Amino acid sequence: MSKFYITTPIYYPSGEPHIGHCYTTVACDSIARYKRMQGCDVMFLTGTDEHGQKIEEKAKAQGITPKEYVDEKVAGFKKLWEYMNISYDRYIRTTDDYHVEAVQKIFKELYDRGYIYKGSYKGKYCTPCESFWTESQLDENGCCPECHRPVVEAEEEAYFFKMSPFAERIEKLLTETDYLRPKTRAVELVNNFIKPGLEDLCVSRTSFTWGIPVTFDPKHVVYVWVDALSNYCTALGFKNDHYNDYDKYWPADVHMVAKDIMRFHAIIWPAILMALEQPLPKHLAVHGWITFNGQKMSKSIGNVVDPFLLGERYGADTIRYHILREMALGADSSFSNEIMIKRINSDLANGLGNLVSRTVAMADKYFGGTLPTEREAGDFDNELITAVEGLREKVDVCVDETRLKNALEEIFTVVDRANKYIDETEPWVLGKDESKKARLATVLYNLLDAIRVVSTLLSAFMPTDMPKVWEQIGAKAEHVTYEAAGKFGVLPADVTVHKGAIIFPRIDVDKEIEALNEIIKNNAPQPEEPEFTPAELAEQITIDDFAKADLRVALVKSAEKVKKSKKLLCLQLDDGGLSGAETGGRQVVSGIAQWYKPEDLVGKKVIIVANLAPATLCGVESQGMILAADTPDGGAAVVFPDQSLPCGSKIR
Ligand code: ME8
Ligand code: MG
Repeated sequence: MSKFYITTPIYYPSGEPHIGHCYTTVACDSIARYKRMQGCDVMFLTGTDEHGQKIEEKAKAQGITPKEYVDEKVAGFKKLWEYMNISYDRYIRTTDDYHVEAVQKIFKELYDRGYIYKGSYKGKYCTPCESFWTESQLDENGCCPECHRPVVEAEEEAYFFKMSPFAERIEKLLTETDYLRPKTRAVELVNNFIKPGLEDLCVSRTSFTWGIPVTFDPKHVVYVWVDALSNYCTALGFKNDHYNDYDKYWPADVHMVAKDIMRFHAIIWPAILMALEQPLPKHLAVHGWITFNGQKMSKSIGNVVDPFLLGERYGADTIRYHILREMALGADSSFSNEIMIKRINSDLANGLGNLVSRTVAMADKYFGGTLPTEREAGDFDNELITAVEGLREKVDVCVDETRLKNALEEIFTVVDRANKYIDETEPWVLGKDESKKARLATVLYNLLDAIRVVSTLLSAFMPTDMPKVWEQIGAKAEHVTYEAAGKFGVLPADVTVHKGAIIFPRIDVDKEIEALNEIIKNNAPQPEEPEFTPAELAEQITIDDFAKADLRVALVKSAEKVKKSKKLLCLQLDDGGLSGAETGGRQVVSGIAQWYKPEDLVGKKVIIVANLAPATLCGVESQGMILAADTPDGGAAVVFPDQSLPCGSKIR
């Protein structure tokens, strides 16, 4: 029996899980189920990534310990996976003792092998992403290139992981092997990270404590990504005695992630494994984001995205089907309730549901539920049978290549073919003619057996609803195996159907959208304060120190952009004659051009630091600065004093 090891990312247990989180897990679950059906010995791993500054801060904000915080969130994740019928074999928490111990050993081994060394880190740090960036990697606003939020200066003694020795092997891995799926993404990785020279990675932190301590230097905790990525091995028992499955299952057959964390899995993870001289995973499947109004984020406007709520209305399997059917590997997919409802109607209610209920109803009506065994072949039989017989192999290929959308498309092509077969053979006409009974039995048998194959293959994707189909078409366990799905004519000739409840009811689109809008209105999320981490409090000063800063009210008389600079505005101010000039004139250059147009400021009073030593910015002299506040989105908001204050008023 061949083994198959598949993993989801381990999720950050922060915030409420939404439909986007379900995608990777449902996709992996479907593959895991399919592989089990094929007879593989499957290990399907998921879990949670529980360390790091972000978690520490969130717990602190709620006045609880980080462990208390993650325990509660993990319970929520597990509840969701149970609800979505996720058949994971193992759940890893990075706070589990065995994982902690194993990561410490991994870190030490990398150190002993000479790949980790002690240095000092100075750079830009994005707290939400737990990522250090170099100046050149920041986006055009000087913010985090991944989440586009502001970064902070940070310097700390730190350990570094040497990545450069692996650059060539990683480039080959990405461009010359089929590790990365889709392979087209290799270009961006090579151009952005490998071609400019793989920089050593900062792999320890001293600025917070919620992490795995470095055994030989315990004021350091292991960088959360080294901790997290290791989970794929430690969960099998790598460097720990808690499990003993590493030799059996490693290397992973598929790691599946979304594009936001591709870099970590495409470059850093292979480098760590290379340094440890361990085999590399076989495939990294990278999917796009489920977007909500163009954004990856959960706080959607105008759509219900709570998986529990959607599942309650349409069934968990229906949600599984919809998200898998919408997302092509490599592309984003935009989520909307309307598209979802239309998809449920067309594919599930009108497509599969109708096929099952029509077929079963006719078998019931014309034969009292049990087919007679006389047969008569006829037109269109071969087309249907050929489509059914060829299906399993097509689905196999799609699943092996992690193209689940295509797998579902193949299955529904046969559903459509079967529905067309009903139109072509017109069983209701045959039913009126006593002499056509054998032909009618053949048509209905062919339909039932097509449904059997389709629903068997589909059961990996929709594990809750397909057994209901089997019940109705009279299929027993031995008829719905993978083996049986490769053949036509497996149901007994005198099969008995059982008319049952409609499995996929048709939804009234307008009414349903109205109902959802009502829910949205009633559950309108409180406009949340944007996430914001205020800059650290500066060192204490005395009143005399403060008095050294001469703050004054000034009027913006004119403003213009500084040529050759995206960030700078040059302001002509009236400071009430402080600078000695008769006009009261003073020129100040301010880095606010991204957030203010000249006309936003002209005529407004501002606060200036009047005794700041002059400086030249982009070749333009600046006599002081104006005061502005940091905003949550990384911008700046100019502080406007009362307009009636005279120019030159002292602020103290
Ligand atoms: O990144 N569309 O955890 P995370 C599609 N702890 N997929 C989505 C999604 C969306 N809108 N939102 C989330 C982390 N995902 C790290 C991972 S792994 C060693 C450590 C899925 O909770 C998708 O798989 O932010 C994405 O890669 C993952 O959640 C990120 O989860
Ligand atoms: Mg993330």
